[in-house]
Amino acid sequence: MDAEKPILEIRNLELYFPVRQGVFKKVVAHIKAVDGINLDVIRGEILGLVGESGCGKTTLGKSILQLIRPTKGDV
Ligand SMILES: Nc1ncnc2c1ncn2[C@@H]1O[C@H](COP(=O)(O)OP(=O)(O)O)[C@@H](O)[C@H]1O
Ligand SMILES: [Mg+2]
Repeated sequence: MDAEKPILEIRNLELYFPVRQGVFKKVVAHIKAVDGINLDVIRGEILGLVGESGCGKTTLGKSILQLIRPTKGDV
């Protein structure tokens, strides 16, 4: 077993939610929920994710679980 090879690799991950407005639901802005995350998790390693409410923790978790498609980047 290669102990150094990460079991999770995140590269330049971005997840933007469109903000829609008006009758035509035009996209007027984007919420940058996740904006350029890079990290590795190695087998046996524990990663803690800390931050204020709304900083993107859940959105990052959902994109790791492939529950939502990233705007850009790779998991
Ligand atoms: N489905 C969604 N549609 C639009 N905006 C969202 C959605 N989910 C989360 N957001 C927004 O993305 C940002 C990050 O939210 P979230 O990942 O839930 O943060 P945390 O888990 O750190 O509290 C917030 O501004 C939140 O309002
Ligand atoms: Mg959350």
